[in-house]
Amino acid sequence: MLIGVPKETFPGERRVALVPGVLPSLTGKGFEVLIETGAGQAAGFPDGQYEAKGARIAASRGDLAAVDIVAQVRGAAEGWREGQVAVGFYDPLSEPQTIQALAATGAAAFSMELMPRITRAQSMDALSSMATIAGYKAVILAAEHLPRLFPMLMTAAGTIAPAKVFVVGVGVAGLQAIATARRLGGVVSAYDVRPAVREQVESVGAKFVELPLETEGAEDKGGYAQAQDESFYRRQREMMARVVAESDVVITTAAVPGRKAPILITEEMVKGMAPGSVIVDLAIERGGNCDITAPGEVVEKHGVTLVGLLNLPSTAPYHASQMYAKNIATFLLHIAKGGKIDFESEDEILRETLLTRGGQVVQPRVKELLGGA
Ligand code: NAI
Repeated sequence: MLIGVPKETFPGERRVALVPGVLPSLTGKGFEVLIETGAGQAAGFPDGQYEAKGARIAASRGDLAAVDIVAQVRGAAEGWREGQVAVGFYDPLSEPQTIQALAATGAAAFSMELMPRITRAQSMDALSSMATIAGYKAVILAAEHLPRLFPMLMTAAGTIAPAKVFVVGVGVAGLQAIATARRLGGVVSAYDVRPAVREQVESVGAKFVELPLETEGAEDKGGYAQAQDESFYRRQREMMARVVAESDVVITTAAVPGRKAPILITEEMVKGMAPGSVIVDLAIERGGNCDITAPGEVVEKHGVTLVGLLNLPSTAPYHASQMYAKNIATFLLHIAKGGKIDFESEDEILRETLLTRGGQVVQPRVKELLGGA
């Protein structure tokens, strides 16, 4: 099977779906790889490195029309055709309508977002690898904008108090944010609605903030948070206000799949923070956890710097692409064993990720969102 890698077209996107280092794992199993010229350039992988690992270079996107499988980062219905397979991020739970357009191309599309959170799929879990990068970058951005230092320093010029960091939402991104902030010397506390998180927070050296909220049933069977009602979020905000006010940096990552992110920090709470404090809102792609962060921007309001930058994984494109490529390559090797994809397979990984086939949306959750289950 021939795998094609187009240059990403999403504005500002610097990642690429395959990196030279993973090509031998694919070519060794009989796949061939065709890279659109310049596809890896922005991530630090020039054409020559792909050629050295056995890929061919396509002069233009049009030359990818012949490939069997399109591997991309940000997928879109970009002229793929019947008989082709496309793999990438398609945002199916937030943008189900775009999946209809994708189905209409006739291509069979697989969504990396819908990878089941099961042990044998861990090496294909691109949401986790990208969240790891976002969590790391959130702390780097916070450190950059904070007028203070992170570590405690005892110097001849006096003692510097460590930065107080509060992480709200401790999934993959939150855990990495905690670890990164600790490495910089910050004093970190964290909160999540899923009770199981407490132990994980403590295991990475942060303090779990106890909020007297009823959180039983806050976790679904996939390990994700369940949506709560507005009165829960109101009580959560009230209880968190003091911790937020005492923090120099707040990093929010709270998300519920397929939903708008809950508002956990109001403008009033921002006003309660000390001047120079920083909020990095990693949930901004889902509307944000803070009422007044602006998508794509860094703004200052009430003396507090609010970071709402989008697509943080793309700001570390080399390693983001390396991790994503490993996820995609492992996935392709899994679904296309022996050079053929068995679309009738009952395999959970294939069934959960297959979005469209034969002109139809076939993924049950996406069909339900479109009102056609
Ligand atoms: P996510 O990006 O959907 O959400 C981020 C975090 O926000 C979650 O921990 C969630 O519980 C939390 N959250 C939601 N509402 C909140 C609120 N009101 N206040 C505070 N926190 C709130 O989650 P992510 O990072 O995708 O991870 C979800 C779970 O999946 C985690 O338990 C993670 O460990 C697990 N996981 C399991 C894997 C596996 O078994 N293969 C692989 C990756 C993740």
